[in-house]
Amino acid sequence: MPAYDLAIRGGTVVTAADVTRCDIGVRNGRIAILAEAVTDAARTIDATGLLVMPGGIDSHVHLAQPSGEAVMADGFETGSASAAAGGNTTLIPFAVQPRGASLRESVVNYHREAQGKSHVDYGIHLIITDPSPSVLGQELPALVADGYTSFKVFMTYDDMVLNDRQLLQVFEVARREKALVMVHCEGYDAIKFMTERLEAAGKTAPYYHAASRPESVEREAAHRAISHAELLDVPIMIVHVSGRQAMEQIRWAQQRGLKVYGETCTQYISLTADDLKGVDMDETGGKYVCSPPPRDEASWEAIWEGITTGVFQTFSSDHCPYKYDSPQGKLSAKGRSSFRWVPNGIPGVEVRLPILFSEGVVKGRITLEQFVALTSTNHAKMYGLYPRKGSLAVGADADIVLWDPARKVTISQELMHHGADYTPWEGYAVTGWPVKTLLRGEVVFDDGKVVGAVGRGEFLKRDISPYAAPRLG
Ligand code: URP
Ligand code: ZN
Ligand code: ZN
Repeated sequence: MPAYDLAIRGGTVVTAADVTRCDIGVRNGRIAILAEAVTDAARTIDATGLLVMPGGIDSHVHLAQPSGEAVMADGFETGSASAAAGGNTTLIPFAVQPRGASLRESVVNYHREAQGKSHVDYGIHLIITDPSPSVLGQELPALVADGYTSFKVFMTYDDMVLNDRQLLQVFEVARREKALVMVHCEGYDAIKFMTERLEAAGKTAPYYHAASRPESVEREAAHRAISHAELLDVPIMIVHVSGRQAMEQIRWAQQRGLKVYGETCTQYISLTADDLKGVDMDETGGKYVCSPPPRDEASWEAIWEGITTGVFQTFSSDHCPYKYDSPQGKLSAKGRSSFRWVPNGIPGVEVRLPILFSEGVVKGRITLEQFVALTSTNHAKMYGLYPRKGSLAVGADADIVLWDPARKVTISQELMHHGADYTPWEGYAVTGWPVKTLLRGEVVFDDGKVVGAVGRGEFLKRDISPYAAPRLG
């Protein structure tokens, strides 16, 4: 009997630490050996000319998430197919607690959405919209113990926003239970005020979504979240940072020794608020409505500054897909009446790795090792999946992407595997593209096609993150 089930031969193996020419041997879905030559295997994949990297981990995606009258374009099946086609092997989407509902019940319901439908492995973050005494006192501690070791809170959105006292209550539980809190930093009242003012002036086109929540709104909320985190000595992750002002708040906190982490996303290095103008301030701008909104090219440079200097630990997609031409999507009757009602979010899980690789590695802004850290390893470390996920080391899951660093692709909707009817990056040219994605040693994506049985992806009960430990113990 061969020593290994699979050998990946002839490739260049990249981790967050090293770039090495070696083969990989896989046994029982795990990496069993890295060696100059692995020959004794039942199957061989020739990786000559390719990079062999840990599968992407996208720790910020929304799938099958209820959101008022809108319907998300991806459940687990299409969302995870799109993820696999983009070189990802693990997703961490969110189970939302609707106001007044039990958090545990929301998690049970969310598992029903996922069960048997995922092409890749998945953990689950919690979204807390109603921190009632039973949620804070019983449900959250029990859920953290069960492997839901991170949760997100919102400083905006009518149906999600927490006030400052509620934020502090959640932060206090996070500190005690050693869970990592992700914070959506945009100030609710300022957005509401600006929205009403813009609408009163007849400025209702999708472009005004960006005008209703400028960078100062994000900066103010980031500063407030950091101040609350400092008050209680609790680590926080500020998610989807869009530009210089919020980035500098995080850097300021980090320089003061606070455990404040940062995440940015594909749209903040590749789209601008001008995209929200559409063809001529028309409805097509709705395709780009997301929060925080994309800013401008100077903001891209600020985000690169944050990436290259280590302000940001993770680079995510914030995949949050709605169809464009659908009454349940961007072009609902209400959505046409004002930017206020256009569902927030864009599809992007499939293009996260290609765009960061092309803009980052190919253009010489980041190294291959940084690319792997930003797209995989740091997500595993932050969210309690390391070392099982996020690296190519003996004993780790054989979650691997084989990557052609020279392949030139023009992104288009026809290439996408998501459930949305458009991609915001139509016509965007990249160099570098995934060729094969392997989940625990099995090929799930092969040269343009998602392959294998749906439902191979398993739920991941996550450990307490070492990054969630308070500074003062
Ligand atoms: O517009 C966005 N990003 N929608 C997704 C929800 C969120 O705030 O992450
Ligand atoms: Zn958010
Ligand atoms: Zn999000």
